[in-house]
Amino acid sequence: MLLETHRAEIETILSRYDSRRSAVLPLLYLAQDTYGYLTEAAIREVAAILDMPPTDVFEVVGFYTLFYNRPVGAWVLQVCDDVPCCYLGAEELIAALKQSLGIAEEQTTADGMFTLQRVKCLAACDRAPVVQANLDYVYDVTPERVNALLANLRARAAEARQRGVSGRFAEDFEWGPDGALVQIDRAAPYQPRRFPAAPPPAPPEPEPVPEADAGHDRPADRKASPL
Ligand code: FES
Repeated sequence: MLLETHRAEIETILSRYDSRRSAVLPLLYLAQDTYGYLTEAAIREVAAILDMPPTDVFEVVGFYTLFYNRPVGAWVLQVCDDVPCCYLGAEELIAALKQSLGIAEEQTTADGMFTLQRVKCLAACDRAPVVQANLDYVYDVTPERVNALLANLRARAAEARQRGVSGRFAEDFEWGPDGALVQIDRAAPYQPRRFPAAPPPAPPEPEPVPEADAGHDRPADRKASPL
């Protein structure tokens, strides 16, 4: 079926590689976006197109967290819980998402909109905590921003369904000064995270004067030694 519906795209993908099996990742993404997730039949179909043993393709699907072998929501929310994100509140963020969505990790909301997952480092540690929605990156997500994030994604559900969960058309988002999500221009230069300016250091406290030096016992006031 993939060959019937996407023959031209598959031939373009295959033409990029010397070896057919090298095209396994893009073909799996194509299959995932076509069927919504990677069914056993879809995995076998990709294996047949690439002349690969199906077991090899099943292994690839099992290895990567961006391949789903069961139904998922229109948006798959992957929250990084690696060390830098945890230092900046990833656990609190996951708890807030679970509460707002009414689901546990690895579950999908009843309306089929969101699946929630934990993942390891998403390579955007300087903008932690990070959420990957399909493959759109959203930076600096705090528990207070969860409702705005979910509202934004719900409003873009049709776009997500049209693009597919694989995120082959990923974008980056950050928070504007008014608290709304803003898409980052792809051509914009990289902007590191901006931290609030540190307050100026307090003036040093005056050193306490040792009792022996207080007042009358300074050298100029001492009596001459009788020796
Ligand atoms: S630790 Fe979260 S993006 Fe690297």
